[in-house]
Amino acid sequence: MIKLEQVGYVYMQGGPFEKTALNNVSLTINRGEFIGLIGHTGSGKSTLIQMLNGLLKPTSGKIFIDGKELNSKDTDMRQIRFDVGLVMQYPEYQLFEETVAKDIAFGPTNMGLSPEEIEERVKFAANMVGLKPALLDKSPFDLSGGQKRRVAIAGVLAMEPKVLILDEPTAGLDPAGRDEILFKIKDMHERMDMTVILVSHSMEDIAKLADRILVMNQGEVAMFDRTDAVFRRGEELTRMGLNVPQITRITDSLRKQGVPIREGIYTVEDALNELAPLLRQEGARLC
Ligand SMILES: Nc1ncnc2c1ncn2[C@@H]1O[C@H](COP(=O)(O)OP(=O)(O)OP(=O)(O)O)[C@@H](O)[C@H]1O
Ligand SMILES: [Mg+2]
Repeated sequence: MIKLEQVGYVYMQGGPFEKTALNNVSLTINRGEFIGLIGHTGSGKSTLIQMLNGLLKPTSGKIFIDGKELNSKDTDMRQIRFDVGLVMQYPEYQLFEETVAKDIAFGPTNMGLSPEEIEERVKFAANMVGLKPALLDKSPFDLSGGQKRRVAIAGVLAMEPKVLILDEPTAGLDPAGRDEILFKIKDMHERMDMTVILVSHSMEDIAKLADRILVMNQGEVAMFDRTDAVFRRGEELTRMGLNVPQITRITDSLRKQGVPIREGIYTVEDALNELAPLLRQEGARLC
């Protein structure tokens, strides 16, 4: 569904401040996958995802969405922007309409949907991100930071994109709010067969949600593998300024101390399933 062939991106090419942000990135993402995108600050995550809906054009290489080459004259880039929904980093700064409802309706309106359909989608998307109907007629500027973030996410969800890309959607939100939003995204992904790419600095969130993890390092693909396989490579991740989930660190340290617990544990549920029988055995031995 998404294919990159030797993609590179250089900011301010030819100028004195030229900066290579991406180098030789080749990868394929299948329909319906949930991809976690991680990497140290400046590794090229935001640059990469902004190329997937044509916001940035690669300086070299090719990008295909559903077989259509981006930025080629035969490809309808308007349609690509509807198909690939991008929630940028700090999207709350991009709200601009008089009311929340109008802001969420912006995308569907551009798609040329009927007023009834637009209203339906606005209600659906607002509900998905946990915005109460009473907020729809307010000015987005009267909302809290967390609520603004939800409005921005709802605006993209309302377009019902085939691919949903989120750049740090929960940064700065409180833990309850972030769990709620991530749960809804997971739910949409499952129910609507939506392909999701989630950029996050939270290894816990990535561990809970992703099928595969793409690790970027200094503008290149360092790893692209199943979640458990990536989190088995803790030492390499640490060298790239990254981490593994806290629970992986705990179970790895238990294993080093001789506890017979397998590698590649990255959720608390997995750890519990592994440790409970061991604790029961130990308890029985002591009794
Ligand atoms: N508009 C720009 N002009 C020049 N250089 C840029 C611009 N945007 C990003 N860069 C540079 O390109 C590289 C990749 O940046 P990018 O924003 O893609 O990283 P990131 O992985 O998203 O980082 P973060 O985790 O901080 O969001 C960095 O070295 C950055 O300084
Ligand atoms: Mg970024």
